[in-house]
Amino acid sequence: MEYLIETGSLSKQYGRDVIVNEVNLKVRAGTIYGLLGENGAGKTTLMKMLTTLTLPTQGTIKLFGTTLDRNSGLMSKVGTMIETPVFYPSLSAEENLTIHCRYKNAPLADMKEYLELLGIYRHKDKKVKSLSLGMKQRLGLARALIGNPELLILDEPINGLDPSGIKEIRELLIGLKKERGTTILLSSHILHEIEHCADTIGFMHRGVLYKEKAVDEFRHSESLEDYYMSWIDEREEGEAI
Ligand SMILES: Nc1ncnc2c1ncn2[C@@H]1O[C@H](COP(=O)(O)OP(=O)(O)O)[C@@H](O)[C@H]1O
Ligand SMILES: [Mg+2]
Repeated sequence: MEYLIETGSLSKQYGRDVIVNEVNLKVRAGTIYGLLGENGAGKTTLMKMLTTLTLPTQGTIKLFGTTLDRNSGLMSKVGTMIETPVFYPSLSAEENLTIHCRYKNAPLADMKEYLELLGIYRHKDKKVKSLSLGMKQRLGLARALIGNPELLILDEPINGLDPSGIKEIRELLIGLKKERGTTILLSSHILHEIEHCADTIGFMHRGVLYKEKAVDEFRHSESLEDYYMSWIDEREEGEAI
């Protein structure tokens, strides 16, 4: 299967506002795709449609080559973290993940591995309400990894982390791709956060997905930053994909 995510003219409208506008997104199996766009570009709304959290107004979604609907069971193969992860605040980190392991039918042994991988094993007995923003973000990522999903959809996964945390999570994602062949769609509003881990970057603005660029293209020519800045200047005339 060439693409694990494929959308056709996918749109979402709230009232008169078109939040996601005829998006044709293709995420190739075994790659990391970075969705880049300013706050309000429509990244979260697009990801919510991909994870059945909200229904499209129009268009199609295929995951693993199969049309997505709420009953298809496809989501059991997907790990997700959309916006700020929500937990039971009075339960511990470990208790929260235990609930998720049961829901995903994943072995409880997985939990330790993912808590360790995200560097929060030593905080496992703390109530979630006492964890810092960065710790909750890590816990959200640990939860997304439970069950070893083939596809990860992560909305601003690096948000709220300090510079060493950013590097660590980036390396973790690259490691999952290389060692497990995991396909990852992630979003960010900051180019630097994703240019070092994404294979492809899709530029989104006001609901429209414009160009997709292979990050490799920039190794020997103009920098991605220069390209991005010139794209921002010209995007109103640019062509949607
Ligand atoms: N439930 C909703 N009802 C109305 N407008 C919404 C809703 N959710 C998001 N929006 C609007 O959609 C736009 C895009 O939001 P969002 O998808 O969160 O963008 P991003 O994640 O790129 O910052 C924003 O202008 C936001 O106010
Ligand atoms: Mg968002």
